[in-house]
Parts: sequence; C-alpha cells; structure tokens
Amino acid sequence: MKRPIIIANWKMNLSPQEEVNLAKILRKKIKFEDKDVVLCPSFLSLVEMADVLKKSRIKLGAQNVFWENIGAYTGEISPKILKDIGCAYVIIGHSERRRNLIETSEMINKKVNACLDNQLVPIVCVGETFEERQLGQTDNVIYHQVTAAMAGIDVVASDQIIIAYEPVWVIGSGQAVAPADADHVSKIIRQALIDILPTSIINNNVHVIYGGSVDEKNIKSFSRLQYVDGFLVGGASLDADRFENIINQVNL
Ligand code: PGA
Repeated sequence: MKRPIIIANWKMNLSPQEEVNLAKILRKKIKFEDKDVVLCPSFLSLVEMADVLKKSRIKLGAQNVFWENIGAYTGEISPKILKDIGCAYVIIGHSERRRNLIETSEMINKKVNACLDNQLVPIVCVGETFEERQLGQTDNVIYHQVTAAMAGIDVVASDQIIIAYEPVWVIGSGQAVAPADADHVSKIIRQALIDILPTSIINNNVHVIYGGSVDEKNIKSFSRLQYVDGFLVGGASLDADRFENIINQVNL
C-alpha cells in the first residue's frame, strides 16, 4: 500500500495574505503521521508560504511551471527557481490550463521532464470531457494523455511522479464520479504506464490520485479503493475545517 497523499489546489481564489493565513491555520491544525499533505497556492505567495511551512511536515507545490530553467521567457516561472525557493511539487496540465491556455501534450511532456530534472515532483493531470465520456472514449483518452505526458521521460529511482485523474466535467461541479469509476480509470493509468516505465518504478515511485469535487462528505467512499493512492482537492481545500476533515478521513 502506498503512503496516501492529499494535495490542495487553491487555484486563483485567494489573495497572497489569505493564502498565508490559511497555511498558518493548517500548519497548526493538521496532525498526521501516515500521509503526505501538499498545499498549492498561487505563485505570489510561494516564497512566504515556504517560510511558513519550513518547520512543518506540510509540503509546498506550485500550480504551473515553464520547461526551461532560465532565459528570455516573459511571464514564465522557472522550475529551478521553484526548487530553490522551497517548492517540492508542481501541478502540470490541469484541464483548466489545457482548455483556457491551449496547453498541449507536447508542452506538458516538456514540463514533466523539466520538473524531474530539477527534483520537483510533477502532478500530471489527465481527464476526459463529458462528451468523450458519453462517446465511450474515456479509457482511450486517458491512455493517450498519460503516454503523451510521459513520452521519452527517463525516470530514476530517486524520482517521484503523481498522475491525477480529474474528469473534466466533475471539477468544481459538487458531484464527484462514482468511486468505482475513479478506481477503474486509475487502473487504466497504471496499465498505460506499464508500456513506458519499469514495473519497479510504477510500484515504488508513482502515485495515482483522484480529483474532482472531492469533499468531506464523499471522501470516505473513495478511501480503500485498490488503485487510488490519494486526492487532489480544489474547492473543499479553501476552508481549513473542511480540508482537515478530508485529511483525517483518508485511510487508504
Ligand atoms: P474541485 O477541483 O475539487 O473544486 O472539483 C479539483 C481540481 O481542479 O484540482
């Protein structure tokens, strides 16, 4: 059994001061021994949050990254600098970026590579749209997104990779998919990885997690699934009590 990981994706919802305040509350509140917890605020508060979380077991993640370490890339953020300021994780290829910023599989693949080169853990988001699900294309879409993101990536024993299954149509909807569906797609993700990575790496270095309207009421039904190793939580992570409640209930 993998050590469960619970990741908060705060998106563009809070001011830097609100993010720092929430991190301070969570630092005090959250007591955990047997799981990992990661907070992903906006870029603007990463430096201050790194300081707030310095002596805590809560880890820090970014919501995006560029694929080069330095250079003339106006408006972008370097993976090397993220690492230097204390980030450990980066969300890559979230469906909101794939949709709103036309982030392509090729870009996502370069970002995964850049993260691993800088000892950052990529959290690679994959997921089908409602139309794709209706057409029965879910497994195929997921297989292709995973293989495209991981194409040519050299994973060594010290690397960690997280693949987050986030069905696009349930994100922010208040209605998660059926736990059995999340488990099925997590199994498809593992199968896709078998064609790319050594089994020992998949078993020891890869977490497959679920995201999409996870909350304190449905989290129990997602615990103890065979192929789900953790959760990516959006809306419900913006409230300290709700996020604490979710973390306390995760018992994979
Ligand atoms: P949600 O967002 O929990 O608000 O659905 C999850 C995500 O987009 O990562």
